[in-house]
Amino acid sequence: MDKVVEGAGPRLADGRALSEAELLRLEGEYCSHGDTVHYTNPPKLFESCEGSYMFDAAGTPYLDLQMWYSAVNFGYRNERLNNAVRRQLDRLPQVASQYLHREKIELAAWIAQDAERKFGEKGRVHFNVGGSQAVEDSLKLVRNAKGRSLMFAFEGGYHGRTLGASAITSSYRYRRRFGHFSDRAHFLPFPYHFRGPKGMSKEEYGEHCVQNLARLFESEYQGVWDPKTNQCEYAAFYVEPLQGTGGYIVPPMNFFKGLKKILDERGILLVVDEIQMGVYRTGKLWSIEHFGVTPDVLVFGKAITNGLNPLSGIWAREELINPTIFPPGSTHSTFNANPMGTAVALETLRMVEEADYETSVAAKGAYFLEGLKDLEKRHKIVGDVDGLGLALRMEICEPHDSFTPSKARVDRMVDQGLAGNIEVDGRRYGLVLDIGGYSKNVITFAPSLDISYGEIDLAMKLLDRLLADAGKN
Ligand SMILES: Cc1ncc(COP(=O)(O)O)c(C=O)c1O
Repeated sequence: MDKVVEGAGPRLADGRALSEAELLRLEGEYCSHGDTVHYTNPPKLFESCEGSYMFDAAGTPYLDLQMWYSAVNFGYRNERLNNAVRRQLDRLPQVASQYLHREKIELAAWIAQDAERKFGEKGRVHFNVGGSQAVEDSLKLVRNAKGRSLMFAFEGGYHGRTLGASAITSSYRYRRRFGHFSDRAHFLPFPYHFRGPKGMSKEEYGEHCVQNLARLFESEYQGVWDPKTNQCEYAAFYVEPLQGTGGYIVPPMNFFKGLKKILDERGILLVVDEIQMGVYRTGKLWSIEHFGVTPDVLVFGKAITNGLNPLSGIWAREELINPTIFPPGSTHSTFNANPMGTAVALETLRMVEEADYETSVAAKGAYFLEGLKDLEKRHKIVGDVDGLGLALRMEICEPHDSFTPSKARVDRMVDQGLAGNIEVDGRRYGLVLDIGGYSKNVITFAPSLDISYGEIDLAMKLLDRLLADAGKN
């Protein structure tokens, strides 16, 4: 290997940019491995992106069916959104978060007025940068409003990896090495029909799950409710309308109405985490809109900026966030409401207002699901397929019963996709897949909302090849 010039940064002695092998060697030595890069072995390096594709150094196209975990809903390098960034860069790219800029105000008003039309509730918006940080802000807001610090959340739920977000995320794996979490959530089962008791329709199962939750409040001996004062020890219930990391599970359509009724009766707030499922992933701006309930607090992030300058935030009902109850300085971050992020988020919302993503996402989602159902018929290792809009799932199982989860087979599919060597119609492709689910055996599909029908057909051909190989013993 060529010699790296000491003290001259990552360039070779002859000034040439580093090769992929050299970059990976430096990464191994100088980057923390505490993030998720080393979930993939060897780590994968990309050079460019466009639309639904990532490209490696050799120019091989990788069809991306996960789009940065649903942060890039409108395609890589979306021209309209990139131009919004360029315009802001040339006018007002920096302004301290203590002062105002027009995009912040217009964006907050857009989101709050839209929520008022949809949910019939006046509210306000508070911005931050990453999803987990917005979750933290929502925890402060809820604790402040209710004067209690404990939350309910779902088994299989994921709300981020800061300390507060880890406390309401079900995996102990994310807490294990980091001390005592006295405010750890009380985790309750999410309605997961495919792995639920047999012999019930999805709707019957939804009702069954609601009844199970209602049992928590039957007497003081379930441990959460004081019938003498009619008070619950828990302030709020954190939910993802469809579980993201949990495996893109679509709950029964009647479930959230039943849950919200219980929460209202018991004085518990409903906090809806739309960080992954929001911004038209399911065909609606907020995925909770499918379920006919009004959130008390809604948290968003990721695709609101199409993965460009990060921006996240919370919308809350006026009663919880008005300036008397949540006064100046209640929470703050240097980069909250950063002008680059608010400018591109505002453009995103203007764009979705002009286009009809509600119709196109439903139509493309139905076409994608049809393709997955066809694959399910032909491959025994596919145990379940389902989806809402363009949030879709495929559960990979052992072929003898199409039910026993198979992490090993799905891992093979991911590795083969990333190897970038699948030949279809005389051309070589790669495939970018993301894995979720309680047993890490679910392919969670979050393609670009602008994916073409031709690209969906290509996705099915590529998946067909990977499933055939993963089905071998
Ligand atoms: C539902 C949900 N909540 C919260 C988060 C955390 O967001 P971030 O990774 O931006 O901190 C994620 C990230 O995947 C998520 O999917």
